[in-house]
Amino acid sequence: MAAQSSVSQYTANEYICEDCGALYVHDNPTTLESMKDVHNQLCAVKRQKTIAAESAKAASRLAAAKSAAAASAMAPAASSSSPPSPASSSPAASPAPGGNTTISLTGTGTSYSKAEGPIDAKFKEKRQQAGMYEGHKIWGPIDPPGQLGIWGSEVCVDFDICIADGACIEACPVNVYEWLETPGHPGSDKKPFMAREKDCIFCLACENVCPPQAIKIFQRK
Ligand code: F3S
Ligand code: F3S
Repeated sequence: MAAQSSVSQYTANEYICEDCGALYVHDNPTTLESMKDVHNQLCAVKRQKTIAAESAKAASRLAAAKSAAAASAMAPAASSSSPPSPASSSPAASPAPGGNTTISLTGTGTSYSKAEGPIDAKFKEKRQQAGMYEGHKIWGPIDPPGQLGIWGSEVCVDFDICIADGACIEACPVNVYEWLETPGHPGSDKKPFMAREKDCIFCLACENVCPPQAIKIFQRK
């Protein structure tokens, strides 16, 4: 007997994105799952929600850093003859929430202009660690707020080259970055802080999309 028509042997499935309402339908659950994964990575509404949440967190972090800097500025002013040295002695302020912080984003470094990319891929051999921000390494020289150095150990961003394009934040599938306010920097007044650096899956998307080539990824061995 002839086949009993080609009525679907799969159960019809559908997925509706809770953020943007997009509807995906496919008879094959595995294919549908793939469609769902791809959509979740690309969904603009979902991304906007994530960015809004991260911005709120960054704003509260900035407020904490500012109050810490203000507190340190009011502390002992006895050594008027010893100007703050950019790279080494700016261990400012008390630690911000979230981990080991030894630098301040504010200071006297105001005479800088924007640096040109690309980031120096061999910077780890040429630069020295100048401090930490919430447990993440900063490679000097730094002289805040105009010169901020290179941030990160594996996900590394030259904050002096970054112009806050934001493509890196949008491209990252695992949400490694969040905006960090950096008022007074000649390149841009916010930078992509690699807050979840340990989540990086080394897809290199961020490195490839950055217009001024401010990012260098070092894969864990
Ligand atoms: Fe994200 Fe860049 Fe790593 S896009 S996964 S931080 S290589
Ligand atoms: Fe900056 Fe490049 Fe990202 S300019 S915000 S590091 S895409």
